[in-house]
Amino acid sequence: MSSADSIDSVLKETRRFAPPPHFSTDAHLRSMEEYERMHRRSVERPEEFWAEVASELHWHQPWERVLDWNPPHAKWFVGAKTNIAYNCLDRHIERGLGEKTAILFEGEPGDTRRISFRELHEQVCRFANVLRAQGVKKGDRVTIYMPLVPELAVAVLACARIGAPHSVIFGGFSGQAIIDRVTDAESHIVITADGGWRRGKVVPLKQTVDEAAEKCDLIRKVIVLERVGAKHAAVTMKPGRDLWWHELMAGASAVCPAEAHDAEDMLFLLYTSGSTGKPKGILHTTGGYMVHTYLTARYIFDLKPDDVYWCSADVGWITGHSYVLYGVLANGVTTLMYEGAPNHPDWDRFWSIIARHKVTKFYTAPTAIRAFMREGRAHADKHDLSTLKLLGTVGEPINPEAWMWYHDVIGRGRCPIVDTWWQTETGGIMIAPIPGATHTKPGSATRPFFGVDAAVLDRSGAEQPPNSGGFLCIRKPWPGMLRGIYRDPERFVRQYWSEIEGVYFTGDSCRMDEDGYFWIMGRVDDVIKVAGHRLGTMEVESAIVSHDAVAEAAVVGVPHEIKGQAIAAFVTLVTGTKPSDALRDDISRHVATQLGALARPEQLRFTQALPKTRSGKIMRRLLREIATSGQVTGDTTTLEDFSVVARLAEKDEG
Ligand code: WT7
Repeated sequence: MSSADSIDSVLKETRRFAPPPHFSTDAHLRSMEEYERMHRRSVERPEEFWAEVASELHWHQPWERVLDWNPPHAKWFVGAKTNIAYNCLDRHIERGLGEKTAILFEGEPGDTRRISFRELHEQVCRFANVLRAQGVKKGDRVTIYMPLVPELAVAVLACARIGAPHSVIFGGFSGQAIIDRVTDAESHIVITADGGWRRGKVVPLKQTVDEAAEKCDLIRKVIVLERVGAKHAAVTMKPGRDLWWHELMAGASAVCPAEAHDAEDMLFLLYTSGSTGKPKGILHTTGGYMVHTYLTARYIFDLKPDDVYWCSADVGWITGHSYVLYGVLANGVTTLMYEGAPNHPDWDRFWSIIARHKVTKFYTAPTAIRAFMREGRAHADKHDLSTLKLLGTVGEPINPEAWMWYHDVIGRGRCPIVDTWWQTETGGIMIAPIPGATHTKPGSATRPFFGVDAAVLDRSGAEQPPNSGGFLCIRKPWPGMLRGIYRDPERFVRQYWSEIEGVYFTGDSCRMDEDGYFWIMGRVDDVIKVAGHRLGTMEVESAIVSHDAVAEAAVVGVPHEIKGQAIAAFVTLVTGTKPSDALRDDISRHVATQLGALARPEQLRFTQALPKTRSGKIMRRLLREIATSGQVTGDTTTLEDFSVVARLAEKDEG
């Protein structure tokens, strides 16, 4: 499927699905009228709306004001004190739910564990005391680089409990990525594991931390969980720096009363790619984020006490923060965590997990759905998926074909699909169906959530008529919004609040149809979404250029059948170096070690020059056309050297 086919199929999409009646009957919200009424009230009187929601949660001290809005700086629940770990754990234990399963875990090798709210609470309290004993104080940033195992949840919640902001780094990232993030966050402690399981192999997490720590003396303590064991991963413990998780936990007290934190105290940093070479630390605070993730999880996944909810995302991404952990646990619902790959030992692993654990709500990425589609429905048909009630997607646009496959093959036509649009920066879901109420259209994230004032605007800020493309913007503050970019207040204002006067600029292009449904088309900035994961063109370019043989590089995103987008790189070599397949492989490998396997280019072409404007800007649009179709049709009048394009289009030079 080419990108033109895919856009065409979205534009022609006219199917509509009413919420299944059996689903609506039991849903929190049952009709479009109810949604419209609540949405109107939530945007007209947001303070009243959010105060009501917030009162369902526990606060050590109530707020004086719901919102302080000094554009573009928002404070929510001003003066209030709370503890999000208390709301995810203690609150449920006090309601008599201590023995209920909080985390249902399956490791890749097949080991399973059930951890109750009481047990999770105990471990979180112990680990909070461990952190304190290691000198971690409120406000200190704690780096977490772990496999997707329950102890990752323990580490995150322990940080939240004592008010030490966590910075979780995805376990697939490289040592350099750890150095960049630890340095920016000025973090002195890293929590990791001897390894994690991925496709039957061990991901050597501790070894990667060792490599990073060698070059980065900010790292003073490393706490190591034994996940795979000495038989599978040999780790060297550096005396004075490295400590075993189990040894520290054995000596720690299980008593750790939840501290009252200010609603605006920093809860976490999460690094994500933007338009420069270095990732930015997106800063989220406590109270608003808690209320936003709590309410979105409740309504969009229609959470009920007996749900077994599974979001397949890693906690290294925002989806894992908000909808594996915080939002789900705040609702007292069982969250399933699966450590490994979707195709290990075979392509039916996800469906086997759903059948064996009787999963009721399942949330995954379009890339995964397209990969399952390619492998054929037999893998799913082998399993009893009748416990499923709802399906969700996130991370990139879903093409109607994949949506229909998900609906028919996995949902067996019985489950509403929630296509949820949001970002690391928004903290929680912003545009999505309310499954018992909203009629869905394959490929559309449908309508804005409560309190969200979304609009499609042009550069001047004018609202676009139905079905014309424009920039997706948010016109009013919302509780889960990012409060800044860590240590870069100026970039926060410039990137999100200056492109279009007075509104939050998402970086996505979009159209709204005649029913007010949003159709997200993709990024308009230098961000590429590979398999739903965000990469900055500059970031990948700097990694390529840091290879000794490379003089200059430019990368663009090109459509990819499974991953949505893939990276195409154009590379010029230093004088005297000859292009070769071996060099191409070496450069690709170099990128993977610098940034992680996700960033490995799908195509890498050698060229003698890159097309630039007279002012020296690389013309990525031309490169995109060349990488996609092999030719250039658009305007080239600003190009400095016309022969460059002609030569590039002739494929590899050299
Ligand atoms: C970007 C944000 C939100 C958690 C995972 C990604 C794209 C996200 C959708 C969707 C179309 C989507 C956008 C957005 N995106 N969800 N349902 N339909 N596009 O978080 O890494 O911060 O990326 O992902 O382009 O801006 P992220």
